[in-house]
Amino acid sequence: MAKPAFLLDGQSLIAPQSVGDHLFPNTDAEVTNLVQTASAEFAIIINIAMQRLSSTQNRADAVKWLISQLHDVRLKYGPAVWQKLAPIIRSHSSAEILQQCPFTKWSFDKPRGYSGDATLIDFIYQHRAIAEQVAKTTPLGRDIFGYTINAPGPVAVRERRDILTKIVDDTAARVGPDTEILAIAAGHLREAEMSEALSEKRLKRWVALDQDPMSIGSIASQYRDTCVEPVDGSVRGLLAKKHQIGSFDLIYAAGLYDYLSEKVAVRLTQVCLEMLKSGGTFLFANFSDEMADDGYMESYMNWELLQRSEADMWRIVNACANANSAETAVWYGANRNIIYGTIRVNV
Ligand SMILES: C[S@@+](CC[C@H](N)C(=O)[O-])C[C@H]1O[C@@H](n2cnc3c(N)ncnc32)[C@H](O)[C@@H]1O
Repeated sequence: MAKPAFLLDGQSLIAPQSVGDHLFPNTDAEVTNLVQTASAEFAIIINIAMQRLSSTQNRADAVKWLISQLHDVRLKYGPAVWQKLAPIIRSHSSAEILQQCPFTKWSFDKPRGYSGDATLIDFIYQHRAIAEQVAKTTPLGRDIFGYTINAPGPVAVRERRDILTKIVDDTAARVGPDTEILAIAAGHLREAEMSEALSEKRLKRWVALDQDPMSIGSIASQYRDTCVEPVDGSVRGLLAKKHQIGSFDLIYAAGLYDYLSEKVAVRLTQVCLEMLKSGGTFLFANFSDEMADDGYMESYMNWELLQRSEADMWRIVNACANANSAETAVWYGANRNIIYGTIRVNV
């Protein structure tokens, strides 16, 4: 994992540059030389991709090919070169073409001021909330979108939502009507839409905490008259124990640890474990270091994430769990693009 020296934990919003600034340096001369070579390689790749996209046939295959080529270039040249190449790619004329995809464009524009907002994730969920944006798309943009949201990362994100729904429903089945759930960085809490425990009123409360007031507003209006309790709060607030929100049978965070340094991730995990009831579970998800869409995301989408390996996940888990009384696990989702850690306390 790249080792950032920053604290991305607060009300503060996520800026890609703050992730990118902290990667391992090479000598300047080496980097400059390699950037030239990598730029030449990119020029060949993008020419082929643009030619393929200029035909109306098999555009999805063309985008799939481009995404895999960018992943390979990123891997081949390493972080120091990639950090210089990604902005070159972003300012290439091809960006205007690829940003006809509404998902790519939303990520690049960052209308909420930071990366990875809940509306961006709604594109991945193909949620009705983004239907208007999609309707405005050009035919080319729609074809590109047809693949970008079905690339391995988005497939894994949809599976993640379903895993969250299942763990909430399983917790309700295990604990009964007193079940209390906490979602940290809840976004629009889309996992609640399919929850049988919620629709059958088998939960005591489902606290949904997020730093974005627009997301909190969306949860408040969608889940009015349910046990869902939106909380306008932040990781920083949790670490400072500012939010007096009680204790829980399940606490989870999806789409958050990807932005947290290991130090903050460990501290947040410790705080979450303190908020669990006996027998309760903490789950966190992170994009894995096997993710396949990283080159496209970091260049055309300007969306950077901290990917974690299995060993990175275990370091967080082991730094927090009491070996004598906790059950711990780290596992991959089906396509290995997202990795999960769980800690069940006092078992
Ligand atoms: C990628 S979205 C994930 C949303 C949802 N959990 C899901 O899986 O669909 C990330 C969310 O994290 C929230 N977030 C980012 N930094 C945060 C912080 N420091 N404290 C609380 N929420 C944060 C953002 O507002 C955004 O809603």
